[in-house]
Amino acid sequence: MSAEQPVQHPDNVSPSTAVVSLGRPERTADAPLNPPVVLSSTFVGSDPAVDGARGYARFSNPTWEPLEEAIATLEGTDVPGLAYASGMAAVSAGFSLVPIGGIVVVPGTAYNGTIGLARELAADGALTLREVDPADTDQVLAALPGADLIWLESPVNPLLDVADVPAIAAAAREHGVTVVVDNTFSTPLRQRPLSVGADVVVHSATKFIAGHSDVIMGIVVVKDAELRAKLLGRRTLAGSIPGPFEAWLALRGLRTMSLRLDRAEANAGMLAERLHQAGGFSDLRYPGLPSDKHHARAAAQLDGFGAIISVVFDSAERANAFVAGLQLFTPATSLGGVESLVERRRRHAAEPVDVPEGLVRLSVGIEDVDDLWADVQRGLAAAAAL
Ligand SMILES: Cc1ncc(COP(=O)(O)O)c(C=O)c1O
Repeated sequence: MSAEQPVQHPDNVSPSTAVVSLGRPERTADAPLNPPVVLSSTFVGSDPAVDGARGYARFSNPTWEPLEEAIATLEGTDVPGLAYASGMAAVSAGFSLVPIGGIVVVPGTAYNGTIGLARELAADGALTLREVDPADTDQVLAALPGADLIWLESPVNPLLDVADVPAIAAAAREHGVTVVVDNTFSTPLRQRPLSVGADVVVHSATKFIAGHSDVIMGIVVVKDAELRAKLLGRRTLAGSIPGPFEAWLALRGLRTMSLRLDRAEANAGMLAERLHQAGGFSDLRYPGLPSDKHHARAAAQLDGFGAIISVVFDSAERANAFVAGLQLFTPATSLGGVESLVERRRRHAAEPVDVPEGLVRLSVGIEDVDDLWADVQRGLAAAAAL
């Protein structure tokens, strides 16, 4: 093949290859290997009277596009995704699909920003909420008739409950209910909700996609081109766009997502198993543990169990003692980065009350697992000593 001939991305490569090869500039002589960061607020018009296709950098930016296309391909659609200023901007875009006064089925527990936004919109009369336990499929199905949209986050932050996404999506389709799935915890490497009937996938790209705790960004992926056009129009008018450098960093992070997730997930699986053996707490949630109440459903739906573990102590004080006893896990909010983080979630006033006071969420990173286990043992000793 001549150097001048553009090379298309080969179909049917495995996801671990795709994260490396998607979103590259055309392979022509002297082309850069990586997309350049385009720092320009406007673009030159095609003639004196008419804007070019790009117009203004709130409408489009060439640095977003490789990332938008790559995440969409990984999620299994050729409709490009849409990049947003944050995961919450992406979540807001999802709720913007509900007509004023519309009915939304939401989980009682999910990322507290999502729940907070939904409740605030409801308090303002913009929408009506039906709160459900997303793991209770009968309850969810009973809430669907007459609804406009159902919001799922699975596995859910931070309880790690798993919803039956295919069954809920199938029932939602029968009732004409739009299905949104926040896929932040699983990433498209472990779960592809569009392929089992969801309409919209939302990501906090801040987490596993960017992967280095140095970017705030969100992404929405849909499989319907008309829906994308609607979201694009709204993003342009709402101005909820990412900076080009953030999009570039997220794409750079994506290159190693498969490696990072493999390692962090293997670490999480081993830590969860060792925690299970060690005890010293009242509950342990990790969908990969055979003893976890949602293990069977997770095993049926996910290609991997992720890198988040929740440990529940019998009090906030004991949970705080556990966190204070850790030296390697950094006490900080967020997750999905290369470094291990820990926090007691109810320290946030906004955290849903269904989350136990003593719940500690571990975001397991890519460090050596024995070092991490030695650290967890320090935390358990500090909690036991209280
Ligand atoms: C599941 C989930 N969705 C959305 C968000 C919001 O993302 P961001 O912080 O990038 O706005 C978060 C943040 O923690 C999250 O955990």
